[in-house]
Amino acid sequence: MATTGSIDVRPLTVNIGAEIHNIDLADVSADQLEQLRKAWLDWKVLFFRDQHITTEEHIAFGRRWGDLEVHPFANSDPDHPEIVLIHSTAEKLYAAHRWHSDVTWRQEPSMGSILRGVIIPPLGGDTLFADAAAAYDRLDDEVKAQVDGLVAVHDFTHTFGSRLSPEKLAEKQAEYPVAHHPVIRTHPETGAKLIYTNRAFVSHIDGMTREESLPIIDQLERAVLDPSVQCRFRWEVDSFAMWDNRCTQHFATNDFFPNERKVARVTLIGDRPY
Ligand code: SIN
Repeated sequence: MATTGSIDVRPLTVNIGAEIHNIDLADVSADQLEQLRKAWLDWKVLFFRDQHITTEEHIAFGRRWGDLEVHPFANSDPDHPEIVLIHSTAEKLYAAHRWHSDVTWRQEPSMGSILRGVIIPPLGGDTLFADAAAAYDRLDDEVKAQVDGLVAVHDFTHTFGSRLSPEKLAEKQAEYPVAHHPVIRTHPETGAKLIYTNRAFVSHIDGMTREESLPIIDQLERAVLDPSVQCRFRWEVDSFAMWDNRCTQHFATNDFFPNERKVARVTLIGDRPY
């Protein structure tokens, strides 16, 4: 059903997460898009309920924000390569149950993602989101001084390498060389400083061994793990979550198996972190 006028923004915490009402993702006016952009920057992840839109409308809504990426390793919808399908069944558990931002192994990691609930288990399967800027703000000044200026090496092989044959791995490593990103990055639109490491993709910190790097990476992850900088989303079929991948991390809970869970994601191309 088309809606007009102001969107209704209902924040979930003081840091992160807002439910958006009075919106039809298939029919967003230019004015509503501007309101959504402001809410997205303010609340970092937006949630929408009861959006009974087609796959094409999901992709079209993503394109309103910029170009969409095609993931080289994840399962895609055969008819729509821009749609990543994360599908867990009784035969095979498949859930992103590690804290991460998407595709930080790219030279230009994604700006954001728009995820739809397709098949939702009766119990569990929530997604948690963390505000990496609030996590940074809560670090001691001493720790901030220690990590400001460090650069981390991000490598896809940590998560996707085991799926590839040795030949394919070598080919993909040439195509997607490791990326060097600041450990503390600056959000390009809000100017906020934030933690930009994750255990899923960071192999080490430049100039340190992995053993030397891990205590720092773990300390930063503990800041992200603080429930006080997080929000949690209970999915329903045709719910959507739209996160700013530049300043958040997320974790899909692994508490629904062997029930089926399927979500579908479009991913917005981003720029180089600084
Ligand atoms: C993702 O990591 O992009 C998917 C999160 C989820 O399955 O809830």
